[in-house]
Amino acid sequence: MAEKLRVGVIFGGRNTEHEVSLKSARFVMTVLDQQRYEVIPIGIDKQGRWLWDGDPLYVLEQQADRGLLGREPQPGVVRGSGETQVSRRRLPPPDSPLFEIDVAAPILHGLLGEDGTIQGLLEMAGIPYIGCGVLASAVGMDKVLMKAAFAAAGLPLLPWVFLRRVEWERDREDCLRRIESQLRYPIFTKPANAGSSVGVTRCSNRAELAAGLAEAARHDRRIIAEQGISAREIEVSVLGNDEVSASIPGEIVPGREWYDYADKYLEDKTQFYLPARLDEATTERVRELAIAAFKAIDGAGLSRVDFLLDRENGEIYINEINTLPGFTAISMYPKLWEATGLAPTSLMDRLVELALERSRDRRVRAAEVGQ
Ligand SMILES: Nc1ncnc2c1ncn2[C@@H]1O[C@H](COP(=O)(O)OP(=O)(O)O)[C@@H](O)[C@H]1O
Ligand SMILES: [Mg+2]
Repeated sequence: MAEKLRVGVIFGGRNTEHEVSLKSARFVMTVLDQQRYEVIPIGIDKQGRWLWDGDPLYVLEQQADRGLLGREPQPGVVRGSGETQVSRRRLPPPDSPLFEIDVAAPILHGLLGEDGTIQGLLEMAGIPYIGCGVLASAVGMDKVLMKAAFAAAGLPLLPWVFLRRVEWERDREDCLRRIESQLRYPIFTKPANAGSSVGVTRCSNRAELAAGLAEAARHDRRIIAEQGISAREIEVSVLGNDEVSASIPGEIVPGREWYDYADKYLEDKTQFYLPARLDEATTERVRELAIAAFKAIDGAGLSRVDFLLDRENGEIYINEINTLPGFTAISMYPKLWEATGLAPTSLMDRLVELALERSRDRRVRAAEVGQ
């Protein structure tokens, strides 16, 4: 039998989505076809140190469970080969298995994972990897540039105002006036770079707007104020490189007024509809828009595109693209593909193929132009 392809699953990371990443990685490692792949787990702890050998996923899960974040990983919980190693620095050491894998699956959400940083490291090391490249990851993570790319592609967006933290700190009155002259309440305030609804506020009046902007400014140097609507939330999974396909749409019905952090992770009141309750024309339209959004940022591999559907007039707006969407057993991304007829194991096969295809394509072109 041919040698198995070595797939390095990278998880954890220095951000607020560390725990979700562990759950996603656990699922990915469970569904990767053991007949075809040798799965190599590679962890990054909350301090940014790299973990390999032994069972780094178990080590990080234990830390998360026990609230031991910030302490040394406990030795002696090894289920793989050898003891789990921990790097001293925030870089993978040359003897870590990162440099011996055939393809990487960076299952990291949010900053230092979904934002192009790990993708850059993998590019430099010449390792093929699943998902979007440096540019698409970085643009997809930044709400200001994401909106600019979508607007340039003529995609439907809710009106928004962009401001910098320094402008807010210099002249609050002026910022409030500027926003109020362009948007009506309710207004959503968001940090440009975050995720999981962290730092997002729904504001119904000027006092709330001021508080919302201050909160967003705590998280980022750049802030978005956006027209709020009463919306249904529709999501579509996208898969491909140059040839892109879209899943059937799903719908999320938050347990609260909007889909905030508590609703996403703490309370268990969110309802999901697969497929979304949409007529045929709207279904086709969101699928087309999802592919167009993916192309607008030059996406590769996978993404989940989220829409807001105005309850009052049925208008569809693109809310955001997630280039490394949640990938747990109950996450929309794999669920939507399953409902479309692609089971998780086949989905992973396809993602590995796409990663190899993209890297082959780059190598061939580099050779042709004599690099
Ligand atoms: N303009 C808006 N109108 C209505 N609801 C919104 C709007 N923007 C965001 N929301 C609500 O806030 C949630 C989080 O906002 P989002 O922009 O998706 O941030 P994140 O990247 O943190 O997920 C959305 O899922 C939705 O429930
Ligand atoms: Mg969102």
